[in-house]
Amino acid sequence: MGVKITGLGMHLPDKMLDNKYFESILDTSDQWITERTGIKIRYFSSKDEAASDLAYPACLEAIEKAKISKDDIELIIVTTVTPDYFFPTTACILQDKLGLKPTAAFDLLAGCTGFIYGAEIARNFIETRRYRTILVVSVEELSKILDINDRNTAVLFGDGAAAAIFQFVEDEKGILSSYISADGSKHQNLIMPAGGSKNPTSVDTVKEKLHYIKMDGKAVFRDAVSLMIKATKEALERADLKKEDIDLFIPHQANIRIIEAIAKYFEIDKEKVYITVDKYANISAATIPIALYDAQKNGKIKKGMKVLLTAFGAGFTFGAMVIEI
Ligand code: UT7
Repeated sequence: MGVKITGLGMHLPDKMLDNKYFESILDTSDQWITERTGIKIRYFSSKDEAASDLAYPACLEAIEKAKISKDDIELIIVTTVTPDYFFPTTACILQDKLGLKPTAAFDLLAGCTGFIYGAEIARNFIETRRYRTILVVSVEELSKILDINDRNTAVLFGDGAAAAIFQFVEDEKGILSSYISADGSKHQNLIMPAGGSKNPTSVDTVKEKLHYIKMDGKAVFRDAVSLMIKATKEALERADLKKEDIDLFIPHQANIRIIEAIAKYFEIDKEKVYITVDKYANISAATIPIALYDAQKNGKIKKGMKVLLTAFGAGFTFGAMVIEI
């Protein structure tokens, strides 16, 4: 008896940008980006493509893979920092696009840890028997809140969507453990300063570019490493597992050096750490489910394997989850 991901879907926008593109518009180089971040490629959505447009095909694929009817879905959780609008929620827009019967639907903002937060909520609703089938969608269009002229952030992020169907299953375990947490004391280190009630959009906030991502990269780097290590330890302990019991580690994909630091700490073999940062960059909440989808598609995950997901993001939020495939 357990809670399992029974279907995954993924969708990327068409526009692919390599590091050469940024060389042509910024004082940067393919060499710097590759060596300092591991990123080679990212995808950017078009002007008229909203988060719900990216999410929709991912949802259809997840529903098909799970072999369920759309009407089986009882709750939609969309995890994003780049919704279509502040309100109504992207979850409600997706419910309409998918033609679902009335269901509970809400957006959840937990930065790059969004999918793990969403999965934890889905797990608890299913374990308490409130719902049997939940759609968790992680979608980001970070290109829409990037200052393309700021080399400190412009090269780091991308757009994309992934959807997962979580279901009650009789004869399998699925999620073995989960852990979510936050430390709000350094929330200023990764922030979109304007557009909310603190700094409502005005001519001045636009002039000062406060509606873009602002990040203290060095400070974020340090906490990303230590908090993902903490989350990983917690998830292993809660599952009563050792690092050796894990078949594949999927950490948040913000920077290859962050991933390497975590792998070094736990002394994990390279082959056991899944990397997508080179081909998709950092897609915030969508990063983890896209990597999970990618690993499954590339045959790196097989039935019965234990996979550990760990993430860190704006807030700071952090969390981890062990799942048996
Ligand atoms: O999703 C969770 C949130 N995000 C993260 O986890 C990201 C965490 N931080 C990082 O990944 C890294 O700190 C960055 C990739 C953002 C920056 O790497 P770094 O090695 O920490 O570089 P730095 O900020 O210390 O900058 C070193 C130099 C600076 O030049 P000076 O001041 O030494 O002359 C920067 O101006 O590199 C310069 N620099 C660049 N040079 C070429 C910064 N960005 C670029 C660039 N191209 N794109």
